[in-house]
Amino acid sequence: MDSLRIEGGARLTGSFRASGAKNAALPCLAATLLTSQPVRLTNVPALRDIRTMTALLAEMGARLVWDEATGEITLDCSGVFRLEAPYELVRTMRASVLCLGPLVARYGHARVSLPGGCAIGERPIDQHLAGIEALGARIDLSHGYVDARARRLVGARIPMGLVTVTGTMNVVMAASLARGESEIDNAACEPEVVNLCDFLRAMGAEIEGDGTPTIHIQGREEFGGGDFAVMADRIEAGTYLIGCAMTGGTVSFAKADLAHLALPLALLRRAGVEIAGDGETVQITGPERLTAVDATTAPYPAFPTDLQAQWMAAMATADGVSVVREEVFENRFMHVAELMRMGADIRVDGATAVVRGVDSLSGAPVMATDLRASASLVLAGLIARGETCLARIYHLDRGYEHLEEKLAALGARVVRERG
Ligand code: UD1
Repeated sequence: MDSLRIEGGARLTGSFRASGAKNAALPCLAATLLTSQPVRLTNVPALRDIRTMTALLAEMGARLVWDEATGEITLDCSGVFRLEAPYELVRTMRASVLCLGPLVARYGHARVSLPGGCAIGERPIDQHLAGIEALGARIDLSHGYVDARARRLVGARIPMGLVTVTGTMNVVMAASLARGESEIDNAACEPEVVNLCDFLRAMGAEIEGDGTPTIHIQGREEFGGGDFAVMADRIEAGTYLIGCAMTGGTVSFAKADLAHLALPLALLRRAGVEIAGDGETVQITGPERLTAVDATTAPYPAFPTDLQAQWMAAMATADGVSVVREEVFENRFMHVAELMRMGADIRVDGATAVVRGVDSLSGAPVMATDLRASASLVLAGLIARGETCLARIYHLDRGYEHLEEKLAALGARVVRERG
């Protein structure tokens, strides 16, 4: 298994460009199941999760060509015959469950493995199922699978029991091919939901209100093809922002890449980061030492849970004490033990972590069990004294395109060791 060797002490300097967003590309890929017409997606990042999703679609009978170098995928789902997302794939990537809504809406049947537990908590899909059931599907759970059937889905009012990103996406996709009108209440407002709706509209869907908690959908008989560019990855951009801030570097970001990071930027400013905009670029300059600032995760537009681990790495050496609260997932502090092995002073009590900034971290062999926890250890390695060796980086390969190349281009001393 590959590992990353990071020599701490370099300040990130230069300019950064975000890749296409994994969490926006995955639902767009699933949405191609809604049409028999050819679709072209661009700005798709070359990541392991995208490979998993394309493998799933290909197994279902989709024909697709992916040019990883240009980030373009062309798909033709007219020959889809296998209406199933098997356990082996759903287990490695929960987002496979995004096929449920499109399959049952277009083919009247879907069989999707239940995801089961994962590293960051239990993560059930009860809201996905309740939403699709409200649209008239009959849902059976047996042998670890969801079996959903419906002659034709029928529009309905769907109050989501809690804010769920992929749950909202699944229900939006299903409702967009249902007969009649639907209203989704308590919908997720994440930019990736809006991006998916933009793609669905490009194929002919009638959707209004995405980006707010109430989404209205007028169901269509069928969709056409589409040509669509996936949005930039706000979590990748946020990770590099925090990396620049904590290393005291100066990095120029494209303004568009920071469009959905208002709150993280506001917190960084309070922590002492200078943010200077000129036209299309934003210059970020980290201070000699960050000031401790609290952060609480919650659905968009609040602080993203996908940046919580990276924020904690930054706070580990900030001046003062900060409180980091995780309000989205019940078990998302796995990075804490590893950060403490590098010298951080963190006390966890339930969903709250109290971080006492220390003068410095020291490099160590570390390992993480999920994607964003791995990212936080990379950032910690950038400021640690000496060398950090991060094992199990296949998690990073799920979500950060060209990580070591992008970091090296900003002056970090990072190498991948193949093993
Ligand atoms: C998506 C993102 C993930 C991000 C998360 C929160 C993708 C592929 N993944 O995950 O990177 O961390 O949003 O921003 O886009 N829940 C239920 N029942 C459900 C669905 C969710 O109880 O049916 C709970 C979850 O356990 C969790 C919370 O709701 O505690 C939010 O999860 P959700 O928004 O669904 O996360 P994902 O869509 O899986």
